[in-house]
Amino acid sequence: MLMFNKDINISNNFDPKEQVVIYHGSCLELFKQIPDKKIQLIITSPPYNIGKEYEKKVKLQEYINQQAVVIEECVRVLSNQGSICWQVGNYVDNGKIIPLDTILYPIFKNLGLVMRNRIIWHFEHGLHCSNRFSGRYETIIWFTRDTKDYIFNVDPIRIPQKYPAKKYFKGPKAGQYSCNPLGKNPGDVWDIPNVKSNHVEKTDHPCQFPVELIERMVLSMTNKGDWVLDPFLGTGTTIISAIKNNRRGAGAEILEKYTALAKKRIKKTIEGTLKTRPMNKPKYDPKNHNNKQAISPWQNNGDKSKQIELFAQTEGSLK
Ligand SMILES: C[S@@+](CC[C@H](N)C(=O)[O-])C[C@H]1O[C@@H](n2cnc3c(N)ncnc32)[C@H](O)[C@@H]1O
Repeated sequence: MLMFNKDINISNNFDPKEQVVIYHGSCLELFKQIPDKKIQLIITSPPYNIGKEYEKKVKLQEYINQQAVVIEECVRVLSNQGSICWQVGNYVDNGKIIPLDTILYPIFKNLGLVMRNRIIWHFEHGLHCSNRFSGRYETIIWFTRDTKDYIFNVDPIRIPQKYPAKKYFKGPKAGQYSCNPLGKNPGDVWDIPNVKSNHVEKTDHPCQFPVELIERMVLSMTNKGDWVLDPFLGTGTTIISAIKNNRRGAGAEILEKYTALAKKRIKKTIEGTLKTRPMNKPKYDPKNHNNKQAISPWQNNGDKSKQIELFAQTEGSLK
């Protein structure tokens, strides 16, 4: 149930009294409207400097400098108990990969922040590489101020244990269940499907967050009514995850078409009609669903030559 009613306003500019803000333009302009320490959680996936339609590929140092300006503003608006989660993959330069979290880490550290986790987000779909292993994870680097007082609520995001029926077999608690009935801490390797063609949340944007990925951070790092900000908003996923969970959401998006798309998705969220993949839904296993395409034809009859024949038909050559 949304705490916010269905007439909720989507504001074009930041105002602490609002609940949803979508700024069309550069995040640096939006930051000018946000007072110091107003935001409890900043989650974003910035451009990776790989030449997507919304970015101009620049020299790596220039990219780092650009990111530093945005990160500095994020730290300024971050509340004392707040968190910043920067979701990144690799910068690829002529076949060489540079993990962006490693080059951005010093910026956060030099601004006095402390890293709490380097989360591995594992997914199964993406480009197939020929000259290196295909990339199947990206990272989320999570920072807070140097305080013990940061918000981290693990209970709302616990996941089921492998052996929930396990009991202590000796000692004073013998016979009692040994695990937390609310589930276990999900750990720092998150296996969550990325948004590709068959995903229920897929839009025309090339790299949108799955809502469930962001909900995990929203639920654990904020309280109801807090502000969640995404300076590189894209399709609005961060705001969607925030308002689904009764938080406030703000973000900036530089391209008109994605600003419009974000607004559309957020309106649907407010109305309760946006389809999203529920948090912790088990991953689709094609074999368990008897999907015929998941069974290789050559395994059926144990005939390896069939595989070679089929492969030759599609590839034209086995060289
Ligand atoms: C990696 S995508 C983020 C996608 C987003 N996580 C989602 O779930 O849809 C980065 C987005 O930032 C936008 N962008 C690039 N530079 C920007 C800037 N200076 N200010 C605001 N948005 C910007 C791009 O148009 C793009 O949609």
